[in-house]
Amino acid sequence: MISAPIQKRMKIIDKPEAMQTAARTLKRDGKRIGFVPTMGYLHDGHLSLMRIAREQCDVLVTSIFVNPTQFGPSEDFNEYPRDPDHDRQMCKKVGVDIIFYPTPPEMYARDHTVYVVEDYLSSGLCGETRPIHFRGVLTVVAKLFNVVQPDLAVFGQKDAQQFRLIQQMARDLNFPIEIIAGPIVREKDGLAMSTRNQYLSPQEREDAVQINRALQRAEDLFDRKERWAEVYRRELEVVIHKAATARIDYIEIVAVQNFQPVSRIEEPTLVAIAVFFEKARLIDNTVLRP
Ligand code: PAJ
Repeated sequence: MISAPIQKRMKIIDKPEAMQTAARTLKRDGKRIGFVPTMGYLHDGHLSLMRIAREQCDVLVTSIFVNPTQFGPSEDFNEYPRDPDHDRQMCKKVGVDIIFYPTPPEMYARDHTVYVVEDYLSSGLCGETRPIHFRGVLTVVAKLFNVVQPDLAVFGQKDAQQFRLIQQMARDLNFPIEIIAGPIVREKDGLAMSTRNQYLSPQEREDAVQINRALQRAEDLFDRKERWAEVYRRELEVVIHKAATARIDYIEIVAVQNFQPVSRIEEPTLVAIAVFFEKARLIDNTVLRP
């Protein structure tokens, strides 16, 4: 693999057509394109994915686009934090070659009517609380794939259901793209990094560590050979309820393969948690492998 030259200019492209032209040129020159889509307000979790793509590709493209179609009408699209200068600096740090930075009208024609819908893996977990969310995610990721034309795309394991769905979409719709997952990056106290951590009050920020403590509890139970999913649900609920400001959205124990609930842990199993605080809904997970 060719490594990045040291002094290289980072390009910012805002038009899909210009990005497609750049991608075509890169491919004609035999370059392998690595891609990390984001909604910006970048943190070390995002950068870790960029480093993975950087290692495996000649050219690193990231996109920054707060995608309106994945937010429900009462969700935080308007409040979602945006900081282009900070994001540019973060991208420079990891040697991004191209930032694709479109605006909503550039991505969606006013009369757009076509969406990508998945109707099995997306029904539970976050899909239940956020009914149009994954339709919006899959639609925008399919569009970004067509615009950026990557060979490899990296997504975070933090959004485990999103990753699984994108993997499924790439297979079912024949996108010629290798899809890989990057591990969850955490703050020192264990809280998974997330743009939405910004919304937490000091008390909520303290309480939010209970999400990770609950996942550690799951790992302890697993090490002690507990296999009944019901026991996990009960015990994890107790851990989260130690946080007075937390309201549980779900604690789910599902098979990694098909995201269906299991009663016993006998195959790779995802323990996934979603918790509401007043303004923030946070998610985290761990995989148990018998
Ligand atoms: P965003 O929330 O900005 O996340 C971009 C990518 O970073 C996703 O793949 C997400 O799983 C990953 N990520 C976030 N926090 C992480 C952490 N703590 N450790 C590791 N990876 C982390 O996810 C989206 O944007 C959007 O839905 C998107 C895929 C860009 C489509 O709009």
